[in-house]
Amino acid sequence: MKLAIFGAGYVGLSFAACMAEAGHEVLCADADAARIEGLQQGRMPLHEPGLEALVAAGLSAGKLRFTADERAASLHGDVLFIVVNTPADAQGDVDLRHVMAVARSIGQHRDRDAVVVCKSTAPVGTAEQVEAVLRAALSQRGAAHRVAVAVNPEFLREGSAVRDCRQPDRVVIGATDPAAIDLLTRLYEPFVRDPAKQLLVMDWRSAELTKYAANAMLATRISFMNEMARVAEHAGADIEMVRRGIGSDRRIGPDFLQAGAGYGGSCLAKDVRALRHAADREGQPLRLLAAVEAANHEQKGRLFELMTHHFEGRIANKTIALWGLAFKPDTDDMRDAPSLVLLERLWAAGAHVQVHDPAAMPNARAIVGERGDVRWCDTPEDALQGADVLALVTEWPVFRRPDLARIASTLKAPAIFDGRNLYDAAEVEAAGIAYYGIGRGRSVRR
Ligand SMILES: NC(=O)c1ccc[n+]([C@@H]2O[C@H](COP(=O)([O-])OP(=O)(O)OC[C@H]3O[C@@H](n4cnc5c(N)ncnc54)[C@H](O)[C@@H]3O)[C@@H](O)[C@H]2O)c1
Repeated sequence: MKLAIFGAGYVGLSFAACMAEAGHEVLCADADAARIEGLQQGRMPLHEPGLEALVAAGLSAGKLRFTADERAASLHGDVLFIVVNTPADAQGDVDLRHVMAVARSIGQHRDRDAVVVCKSTAPVGTAEQVEAVLRAALSQRGAAHRVAVAVNPEFLREGSAVRDCRQPDRVVIGATDPAAIDLLTRLYEPFVRDPAKQLLVMDWRSAELTKYAANAMLATRISFMNEMARVAEHAGADIEMVRRGIGSDRRIGPDFLQAGAGYGGSCLAKDVRALRHAADREGQPLRLLAAVEAANHEQKGRLFELMTHHFEGRIANKTIALWGLAFKPDTDDMRDAPSLVLLERLWAAGAHVQVHDPAAMPNARAIVGERGDVRWCDTPEDALQGADVLALVTEWPVFRRPDLARIASTLKAPAIFDGRNLYDAAEVEAAGIAYYGIGRGRSVRR
């Protein structure tokens, strides 16, 4: 098939490269001309494991092409995917400008029938709006092409986007138009083992809500565990044991039960906010999600609380080594990253930080700017030099098995604040390092 994909971000680029790998002729468009120019020359705009090689393979096979020309993309192929960013403001109001700009552009340029698929995460009712914008643009120039709209939310995870694209748990196809259902079914069939079970065809609105409900559920599990971690801490229990104890129950399952420094990233927080906002407007306030958000907000401050406790409030002029900035490992995405909250609190308290992240430092620097109270370090070891204590915020593989003896001899007042419960508390303490985890039943000494 010939596919046009609008948006060369984390999702659009991964999807485009995987579709090209599967043999489709993909034209991927982005409004950011510099991004497109870089991609045409083989420069990646983002960090995603395995994606660079896949993009290179697609380019050299001639299956994947990039363009900044929205007209060329609007004229390409059978199915056109909208995969642009849909940010939400602090109240949860989703900005659909980019989605509608693509719809308008397709309506202005398209010279034949098409299936237009909204893959961006967008509130219930967006597909109707996309259809109206498309129709208006077509009729303004007297064009009578048939354009069927479908909703096809994306569930991939940054850090494993390529794998998730190649092997999705399920594919949601929100469409009633038979031609759209047929095209999308044929497109996705090779990616799933059991199409009858894994290709879920439903109406637009159910598909749109499915995406929000999925993220809301994941956020709920995380906040639930973070609250349990607080209970565990005070009860002298270890949340890691509790996690294993409940995760092995098939009704619960092991995923998304990790207590930590709070959820972040471009999706969970944004989508929970957006869902709450939309439900509020319908007069259906989501009390549970309000609590999920509040718990997460509090949790992002947890490492700082533990440090305050450790230093008995005297954090000014302390130097904190900080390992990991990205909201999760294997990505350079800093959107809503818990590390940003910790940095702000530390700086406000007068501390200095020495940070290392394998991929996210350029994006983090662009957000926080150059300042005297941060040192950007090339290696994890460099970040430890001259620091009082160490905080682990993102569980990158490179931080998994550190040389504890070296940490003990390098830090001025050896203590580890383990925001991901990555380390064995007893091992750390045996190395002569104070250990603070999340819900490990030993951090808050009463
Ligand atoms: N990142 C994730 O993990 C993830 C997972 C599932 C769903 N989603 C959803 O997928 C969508 C895309 O997310 P993302 O993380 O890839 O965003 P992103 O910000 O990484 O990329 C979006 C891209 O769209 C481009 N764009 C904006 N307007 C455009 C236009 N008019 N024409 C062409 N390109 C345009 C931007 O320049 C940018 O490169 C969002 O709705 C998001 O909520 C994201």
